[in-house]
Amino acid sequence: MKIRKENEKLIVPERVTIPFIEGDGIGREITPVAQKVVDEAVKKAYGGERSIEWRETLAGEKAFKSTGEWLPAETIGVFREHIVGIKGPLATPVGGGIRSLNVAMRQELDLYVCLRPVRWFDGVASPVKEPWKVDMVIFRENTEDIYAGIEWQQGTPEAHKFLRFLTAEMGVTKVRFPDTSSFGVKPVSVEGTERLVRAAIRYALDNRRPTVTLVHKGNIMKYTEGGFRTWGYALAEREFGEEIHSGRLTVNDVIADAFLQNTLLTPEKYSVIATLNLNGDYISDQLAAMVGGIGIAPGANVNYDSGHAIFEATHGIAPDIAGKNLANPSSLLLSSVMMLEYLGWNKAAALVTTAMERAFADSEATIDLARFMPEGNALGTKEFGECVINKIKVL
Ligand code: NAI
Repeated sequence: MKIRKENEKLIVPERVTIPFIEGDGIGREITPVAQKVVDEAVKKAYGGERSIEWRETLAGEKAFKSTGEWLPAETIGVFREHIVGIKGPLATPVGGGIRSLNVAMRQELDLYVCLRPVRWFDGVASPVKEPWKVDMVIFRENTEDIYAGIEWQQGTPEAHKFLRFLTAEMGVTKVRFPDTSSFGVKPVSVEGTERLVRAAIRYALDNRRPTVTLVHKGNIMKYTEGGFRTWGYALAEREFGEEIHSGRLTVNDVIADAFLQNTLLTPEKYSVIATLNLNGDYISDQLAAMVGGIGIAPGANVNYDSGHAIFEATHGIAPDIAGKNLANPSSLLLSSVMMLEYLGWNKAAALVTTAMERAFADSEATIDLARFMPEGNALGTKEFGECVINKIKVL
């Protein structure tokens, strides 16, 4: 049965259909493992009263082979209709066509938040001394900024035309090497900022998190990144003034470069992060590296107004290890945990998280993590899935 959105709320049936894209490369290995683990957790949590019916939908290489298209229109339609879905990593088509399947899906469904929770698991090796202090949830704006893809290559008639417009009509004199410059445009809007910051603040309040930090580079880019800061604070005051003045929530801001430094020095100061697209890209990867790398970093792309959400593995298709039963399914497993929480199935979500915590604490992991554990027991992809399932059974 399908999820519905009514009066701003998701209505999740007990037997819910969840569309999934298996993914290319290691997607074929990690997706079935994640599904088995989730099924076991749901069964254990709700004793058969709730269940997920997985509905496969095609994208990437698998879609191309059977339909001639990398992203069939039907796939977007299925995600639109079912509201919540999950995907493995996808190969980027080489030589034209869609630039990125992920970007295409985000745009089609206007998934304006890239959500990345980052936490450390006991037992997982980290390059920092106190990784347990890292516990943040990043809200990265997904639709604007320099990522909107408005740019012109140097030497083209378009770049010359744009330069003429800048100099003749806008009075710009600061282009250092005008004849050989490429140009890019960075749109950052009031609406785009407000919906992102609103989502971050609501998340913080719903999950009893103490702060929302706006991360920006407004000291230099005053109207775009500075606008993000100004509009973000204004929204916070206008819509959440009571929560802020009563001390339930602190909204503050920090400049992006200082933030990257501070996350290494005093990560415990930060909880929920709201930031623009490009900053969010760098921040997500740095924080992921601090807790064990992208192999275990989960993510989702969400539109909190329509309810649409696609949960995903954040790494790529790892062609170097595909088909060898070596891939770490943890990123997709933790994305599945996020999905269960989004559905309100928190008990099942907690079972998967606890089972994974126990696996890592027992030094049981796939080889990418196990090789850095002093007594690491390297398991294959399937065997790690079995290990998590066995731990769920005894919780
Ligand atoms: P990648 O993430 O596939 O691989 C980078 C390195 O990390 C490789 O050494 C790989 O073996 C390792 N790795 C990645 N995931 C792992 C896992 N779960 N367990 C163990 N090791 C893992 O990135 P790369 O090589 O830049 O991209 C390969 C392909 O994946 C490209 O076609 C790219 O477009 C696509 N890609 C897709 C993404 C998505 O669908 N979200 C994201 C990033 C890349």
